Amino acid sequence: MKTHILSADGESLLQAKQIIDAGGIVAFHTETVYGLGANAFCDEAVQSIFALKGRPADNPLIAHVHKDYDVGKLVDKIPPYAEKLARAYLPGPLTMVYPSKGKVSRFVSCGLDTLAVRVPSSETAQVFLKEVDLPIAAPSANRSRHVSPVTARHVYDDFAGDIPLILDGGACSGGIESTVLDCTGEIPMILRAGLVTREMIAEIAGDCLFYEKCAGERPKSPGMAYKHYAPGCRTAYFTSDELQNAVRCYLEEEGRGGLPYFLCREGLLSSAEYRVLSLGACAEDMARTLYARLREGERKATLLVAIEPKERGGVMDGVLNRFTRAFGRETDET
Ligand code: TXA
Ligand code: MG
Repeated sequence: MKTHILSADGESLLQAKQIIDAGGIVAFHTETVYGLGANAFCDEAVQSIFALKGRPADNPLIAHVHKDYDVGKLVDKIPPYAEKLARAYLPGPLTMVYPSKGKVSRFVSCGLDTLAVRVPSSETAQVFLKEVDLPIAAPSANRSRHVSPVTARHVYDDFAGDIPLILDGGACSGGIESTVLDCTGEIPMILRAGLVTREMIAEIAGDCLFYEKCAGERPKSPGMAYKHYAPGCRTAYFTSDELQNAVRCYLEEEGRGGLPYFLCREGLLSSAEYRVLSLGACAEDMARTLYARLREGERKATLLVAIEPKERGGVMDGVLNRFTRAFGRETDET
């Protein structure tokens, strides 16, 4: 199958609708990362996403809808704080989990009685969702556990020949996946940190928790149990306090004839002295550049030496979560 990369216009959108209506898969731009979408009502279409990605069967998908779609058709019991959050931050990089009405394919939520719903703000995503006028089940458009895609080219690199169409909206401005927020309780609870931060949620909802899995418990968001975002090269991971060890590690790799690269915030190490993949200076820059740098690193480096930024809170919560998961420091089993 030939994979076409097209920007969204009358012709490509019609093509996208035909593919989706026939149970096929269309990759599309969002403001966070590219998604791999299929009709959420169709069992076979949803199952084919899992097969294509090599995604574990217990890791549920997000249903994407356009901004005028009535979410009440799909979910129940939307609490007042969630309505306020939706007014403040949607369309945007915030996914909200509610009790499901069981209207979409049972494969979307992998047997959970909840459904994750997202209204992306990307113009490409909006016109695509409007054209199909269906909830679109979509994970990030990467092979399972690989780095998420932030350009159409990244999607092509993972799925060329396997999908007919990528709706190209350029580079993703957000760069890390949406915040996943459990809205089934009295207080909203972050299952996955992202660009809509805990502080932003607490400001509107009054309070906001971070989900922490208790020992032995099945994680509320099954995706949390997997190592993710891993670049396909050797990696080493240091905190900012371990800079000397990081430099030693880099020099040892060079001594062995390897080609190490640092991955770190701008200005930490001299790019005249070392090969540096810079993440920029602020948390938003780091979010926007992280996945592109990880993919660049796996192409160029024999060893990627990552140095964890020092900042905490706000958007850094999401950036650090992706850092630790990419470099395998998380405590969950994979
Ligand atoms: O920004 C994003 O959210 C991107 C773009 C394409 O929209 N999508 C994305 O999807 O990151 P995916 O499949 O890579 O991650 C979805 C996350 C997983 O961690 C999954 O476990 C969680 O959302 N999730 C989905 N449905 C859930 C549910 N009903 N309850 C709890 N967690 C859920
Ligand atoms: Mg993903």
